[in-house]
Amino acid sequence: MNKLGRKLSLSISLAVIVIFSISILLTQYFLPKYYLHKTKERLEQVSNEIKKMDKTTFIHSKETIENKYGITIIYEPINSNVDELNEVVFSQLYKKRITLNKFWITEETLQKLAEGKKVNKIYDQGKLKSSFFASFMQRDDMLVLVGNSIVHFSDTAKIVNEFNLYMLLFSIILIIALVWILSKKITTPLKELKDVSKDISELKFETVHIKTNDEIEELANSINLMSDKLNKAHQDLKRKNVNLKIVMSDLTHELKTPLSLIKAYCVGIKDGLDDGTYIDTIIKQTDNISKVIEDLLNFSKIERDEIEKTTFDLIDLFHSCLVKHKIEIETKEIDVRISNSHLHQLFVWADKEKIEIVFNNLISNAIKYTEDHKIDIEFEDLEQEIVFQIKNGTNVQQIEKIEKIWEPFYVLEASRNKKASGTGLGLAIVKSILIRHHFKHGVSIFNNQIQFYICFQKNPFNH
Ligand SMILES: Nc1ncnc2c1ncn2[C@@H]1O[C@H](COP(=O)(O)OP(=O)(O)OP(=O)(O)O)[C@@H](O)[C@H]1O
Ligand SMILES: [Mg+2]
Repeated sequence: MNKLGRKLSLSISLAVIVIFSISILLTQYFLPKYYLHKTKERLEQVSNEIKKMDKTTFIHSKETIENKYGITIIYEPINSNVDELNEVVFSQLYKKRITLNKFWITEETLQKLAEGKKVNKIYDQGKLKSSFFASFMQRDDMLVLVGNSIVHFSDTAKIVNEFNLYMLLFSIILIIALVWILSKKITTPLKELKDVSKDISELKFETVHIKTNDEIEELANSINLMSDKLNKAHQDLKRKNVNLKIVMSDLTHELKTPLSLIKAYCVGIKDGLDDGTYIDTIIKQTDNISKVIEDLLNFSKIERDEIEKTTFDLIDLFHSCLVKHKIEIETKEIDVRISNSHLHQLFVWADKEKIEIVFNNLISNAIKYTEDHKIDIEFEDLEQEIVFQIKNGTNVQQIEKIEKIWEPFYVLEASRNKKASGTGLGLAIVKSILIRHHFKHGVSIFNNQIQFYICFQKNPFNH
């Protein structure tokens, strides 16, 4: 038997043994005494009732009392001859089908009765295994006997206890059998759970199918859920790790290239080769390094920063961001079209500074990567939210991988070699901000158009 089964059967058996032992002890020692006490109490009650009655009432109601209490009542005028009195009482008892081996009313008893005392006697009937309990009293000149036969209870108790011992033995066998079956039912799924947990600890994210309709099934479901989530988190982490490795090598490359250029130009200046442009090149390269480092710092800062929501006009904020990119738009001759331009004052509940970062990133990306010199912007005023969309032409064909552009340092192959492509942190920052706001957002490519959307929550106090 398994450990749980052994523990269970041991403790239940112990409890049953204790209960049976108490019951055996009570039956053996306490019950006979209690039985005697109860008989005595009953006879006493009857005696007291009789005492209160006058002679005629007593004679009339004698039979009723006998039937009511299941006892025997005998009365007889006391005469001076004890032998005669005993004989008469004995024959009266015999008539009532009470045959006694041993019964004798002594003179001493009569003496006490004459003094008005009550006398109780138990006549042990020897081999008959019973006793006769008699309560005597004197009423006027009459001897009144209130009696009851009692069986020798300790003998009966012995038999009952013998039977109890067999019952105890049977109960223990039954308990062991039941516990064995039950513990097997409990431990089999538990063993499965143990195996799965061990697998999970070794990063093998298995699930288990247990149908027990109890807490074990609930535990199994929770472990399955945990396994699934851990698996996803693990896969995610693995992917991020791979990305990070790629990025690290990109980053080193990105930092190394300007650094070697700076070094080469510095050596050039030292050797007197400067044609007047060397310093500018060095400044440009240090700017590049600064931009990469600044982006990284910003990204980690935004991840840590608290979100401080206020109510502000989304349209107003968007236009102020767009104005900042006016020169680039004009230089690249981009046509920016805003539909629903009649809409104004669309209030949202968000962190204004962070949403400004979001708009700046999306606008600058659209300007940097548009292939058709067009950017389409749309605001939609819904009941609970404001939907913002920004679209531009693209040659990107990796539609199935498009979700990846939200990942840090991820740069689409098409733009990797282009001068325009940055560190690949812009959209990761955007995503982080939107997730922390719980704003739905997404990206899709359709008909050579890349489209980003965000659902901004409206000011909750306006509802
Ligand atoms: N509007 C867009 N049109 C086409 N491609 C885009 C657009 N926005 C983003 N991408 C692609 O997604 C990649 C990731 O964009 P993200 O803004 O995160 O980085 P980045 O612009 O390269 O660098 P950073 O924003 O950090 O300067 C870009 O390199 C580009 O390939
Ligand atoms: Mg960008």
